[in-house]
Amino acid sequence: MLQKATDIFNVKYPIIQAPMAGGVTTTRLVTEVANGGGLGMIGAGYMSPNQLRKQIQEVQQLTPNPFGVNLFVPNEFHVTEEEILAANEKLNQFRLTLQIPEKKIVEKPDFNDLYNTFLEQVDVVIKENVPICSFTFGVPTTEVIDRLKQHDILLMGTATTVKEAIALEKAGMDIIVVQGSEAGGHRGNFLKSNNESMMGIMSLIPQVVDNVSIPVIAAGGIMDGRGFMASLCLGAQGVQMGTAFLTCLESGANELHKTAILNAKEDQTVVTRSFSGKWARGIQNEFISSMRANEQQLPAFPVQNSLTKDIRKAGASQGKPEFMSLWAGQNATMAKKQTVGMLMESIIAEAKGLGFST
Ligand SMILES: Cc1cc2nc3c(=O)[nH]c(=O)nc-3n(C[C@H](O)[C@H](O)[C@H](O)COP(=O)(O)O)c2cc1C
Repeated sequence: MLQKATDIFNVKYPIIQAPMAGGVTTTRLVTEVANGGGLGMIGAGYMSPNQLRKQIQEVQQLTPNPFGVNLFVPNEFHVTEEEILAANEKLNQFRLTLQIPEKKIVEKPDFNDLYNTFLEQVDVVIKENVPICSFTFGVPTTEVIDRLKQHDILLMGTATTVKEAIALEKAGMDIIVVQGSEAGGHRGNFLKSNNESMMGIMSLIPQVVDNVSIPVIAAGGIMDGRGFMASLCLGAQGVQMGTAFLTCLESGANELHKTAILNAKEDQTVVTRSFSGKWARGIQNEFISSMRANEQQLPAFPVQNSLTKDIRKAGASQGKPEFMSLWAGQNATMAKKQTVGMLMESIIAEAKGLGFST
């Protein structure tokens, strides 16, 4: 008999606020979720160890309840200097439009540096007694998993296919987050190409549930009590919701990003690798359309991500969302401008109407 996710996490409701790296998961967002009976997650993928330590301590001051940290598993990338220069060159048209300087010196991110930062992030999670740590973009090494487990930290991995879920269970994860193709933000696929890892959540949940013996959490397009209950019906133990929390008042997403989601039409999200070199779902804009023809040739994550940073930043500061990465899931039209409390209450009330009980 599977243990309930609420018992494993020690929370009232099996609702996880998705970790969203890049400033969305503010201390207020995470603590409001934790204090409201869900599981708040710090999206720490782009944070320095010091930034992460600081935020963990802030959250601990504001809630006695459990919360988690999410990290990116670094993947080796093979990109030549020529490819970087060519990719940088292609971005100059946007720099011209935004009237920002061309980038003359392009530094290639160093994999060893990124990996060392990841190990330091893991150390911070351990030292600060964070009870839950989740990962995306792959399977951490046995050493990392063992170290976290020695400190009784609950481990969650992200899978986009049945095979990835099996691999994560085999590696020692306690819980699997299955990410359907509807999901906003970066795809977590790590075994096969993005094209081969685009199963919708309704097919993914039952097939993963039937092939692993650990609890499964569903992510992708879940916005309300109906999506929550449908996920439970299919065998998930809970849900992880990103877009729905992103437009909450407590989220740190840029206001232009929130507005773009709140005004989005149902056919506006697309999957692109133009911003970061990794496939991700967001609202289509001028940057994505202009980059479409070159998309397959762009350098891998995180190289392209570093190259586009100045453009995304200038887009945000100049009030031009057409140059920002507006990550959002396929169900974006259901997003509302509301507090975390209102969102959680409405999901639970709706779910109760459909037979949910704690
Ligand atoms: C803005 C944004 C940033 C995200 N960043 C992360 C991240 O740092 N780590 C992660 O595991 N998932 C990340 N995700 C994906 C979520 O965990 C989740 O799979 C997705 O939000 C579910 O789809 P939904 O947005 O339709 O709810 C992000 C999603 C969004 C929208």
